[in-house]
Amino acid sequence: MPTRIVAFSGNTRRPSRTRTLVEAVASEVARLRPIELKIYDLVDAGTGIAVESRSALPLPAARIVEAIEGADALIIGSPVYKGSYSGLFKHLIDFVGPEALIGKPVVLTATGGGPRHALVVEYSLRPLFGFFSAQTVPTSVYAGDTEIADGRVADELVRARVAQAAGELARLIDAAALSEALPRAAAAR
Ligand SMILES: Cc1cc2nc3c(=O)[nH]c(=O)nc-3n(C[C@H](O)[C@H](O)[C@H](O)COP(=O)(O)O)c2cc1C
Repeated sequence: MPTRIVAFSGNTRRPSRTRTLVEAVASEVARLRPIELKIYDLVDAGTGIAVESRSALPLPAARIVEAIEGADALIIGSPVYKGSYSGLFKHLIDFVGPEALIGKPVVLTATGGGPRHALVVEYSLRPLFGFFSAQTVPTSVYAGDTEIADGRVADELVRARVAQAAGELARLIDAAALSEALPRAAAAR
């Protein structure tokens, strides 16, 4: 069975450097494992997501939240806005069920206008997914304005981190599959 991976990027415009970064991680994971990939961004969520309850979300946005909850693993990205993840990105994540991501393998990525906010992934995104008890991979990926160009990751060091994060995600996916298979094998004995 291919691993169902959902990539979600908090960009509100296209073309988007954040979307390019999550796509790069997804391509790298696809080189390592058979995956069934769905990529979403905030543009896909449409307008009208400024609602206070999940049941009031427009259908395209509700489908993204459901996809995030139902995935085997996630690749997450946000543009840096004022030193943190974007507000609209957080607003959609706020509708994810508090227990839906427990133990889920997740890669964290972000893009910004320069190098100064590279640690946003560590001080904003990682605690957010810590709230959900997700399993974030140790290597996060950040790219500044010159490191993604013409729809591709142009910087060799960022490409290396993409490959490292993808490899870590693949190993977490394997570990999750193994821990599911072992009790089944024991029960069949
Ligand atoms: C409202 C706003 C606030 C921003 N704040 C920051 C910031 O604090 N630090 C930073 O490095 N870049 C900042 N940027 C630049 C974006 O993070 C950067 O251009 C990002 O790569 C855009 O991603 P996208 O192409 O996926 O939309 C800001 C951009 C906008 C529009």
